Amino acid sequence: MPRETTPTTAGASKFRRYPPTTNRSLQVMSAADEWLLAWAAERIGPNDNPLVVHDRFGAVALSLPQPVRFLATFHSQEEALRRNSGTRPSPPIYTVFDALDPVRRAVLRVPKSLELWEIYLAALAAAATPETEAAAGFMTRHFTPRMLDIAGRYAGQVKQSTARKKARLLLLSDFHPPEGGGARALRKFIGYAGREYQQYYGVFSADHIDYATQWLLEQWAVHPELRELNPATILDLACGNGIIGGELLRRYPQAVLTATDDSLLAVESARLNLPAERSTVRYNHTLDALGDDSQDQVVTNPPFHFGHENNIEVSLGLFRQAHRVLRPGGHLVVVANRHLNYAVHLGGIYREVRELAVNDKFVIYRCLV
Ligand SMILES: C[S@@+](CC[C@H](N)C(=O)[O-])C[C@H]1O[C@@H](n2cnc3c(N)ncnc32)[C@H](O)[C@@H]1O
Repeated sequence: MPRETTPTTAGASKFRRYPPTTNRSLQVMSAADEWLLAWAAERIGPNDNPLVVHDRFGAVALSLPQPVRFLATFHSQEEALRRNSGTRPSPPIYTVFDALDPVRRAVLRVPKSLELWEIYLAALAAAATPETEAAAGFMTRHFTPRMLDIAGRYAGQVKQSTARKKARLLLLSDFHPPEGGGARALRKFIGYAGREYQQYYGVFSADHIDYATQWLLEQWAVHPELRELNPATILDLACGNGIIGGELLRRYPQAVLTATDDSLLAVESARLNLPAERSTVRYNHTLDALGDDSQDQVVTNPPFHFGHENNIEVSLGLFRQAHRVLRPGGHLVVVANRHLNYAVHLGGIYREVRELAVNDKFVIYRCLV
């Protein structure tokens, strides 16, 4: 069990969140990260080359004194790590799909998505040795017994530390090889309109197609303004498993699709679902790779939840970038929760914002360039 003293995290102030936020209550490091650093100071040797997992801004990885390996599942996380590395070389970045050299020590943050938690554990267990020890940090208020159940599928020993500043660690050892293989085996089928969409664990909307997305697709079949559209180039922005783009390709047999997402698991899922000859799926958190005026239509169910945080700033940035890639006369279609009141923000970017449909939870906007 780690001592209740921690190395100083005063250095945390030198790290920045990326994407940046104006919300000053959102921190770059938490008490769970401090607890992980305390464990690491005691349990990780100078030559252990630990694996750091789900460290959103790289602050834990870059606070450790020894060289580390960084496991990333988000494109923006890779960018955060590079930016926070400053003039130091950035640690090597791996994904859950890479074959890792044996891991003796690992530090993880437990993600909100317990499917993602399982993907991380499967990747770690696939690279574990009999000596492997790992600590996984979380805020006590986020604890659920399912964290333990899932950890028990991959590690014979799962202990909880005491709470410190409302944070705890799960201490894991005695790993066994994952049944059915590593992260690639953790995928499932989700039905929609008689078709099956595949997705890896940890992709948005775990058990069914998101209700806002379902409603958008229903409206596309009946709403006069949506039915009239006939785009040749479509961007599915924040595509998840690719459901929106996939359904629109069926509706527009001549169209070609670009799909982007910040989540590697989403992108790899969309690649399983979208026809390769008509679509390009990009792992990216920006639209920088797409040309100005290159799209007839952008469609999005934009991100709002980031783990335990809610924030619309990323979506507002994506709306601005969508405007740049749309050709004159092109349009953006957004489905979102009503309470987010995106119309105000969209009105500051687009020539015209039309509210096409609204129900008790969701709203659909069409925004003209
Ligand atoms: C509300 S979900 C929608 C997913 C999918 N389109 C659907 O309808 O099921 C939002 C998606 O945005 C992704 N995301 C978050 N930040 C992003 C960014 N900067 N660029 C692209 N996608 C992002 C998340 O990974 C998530 O898959």
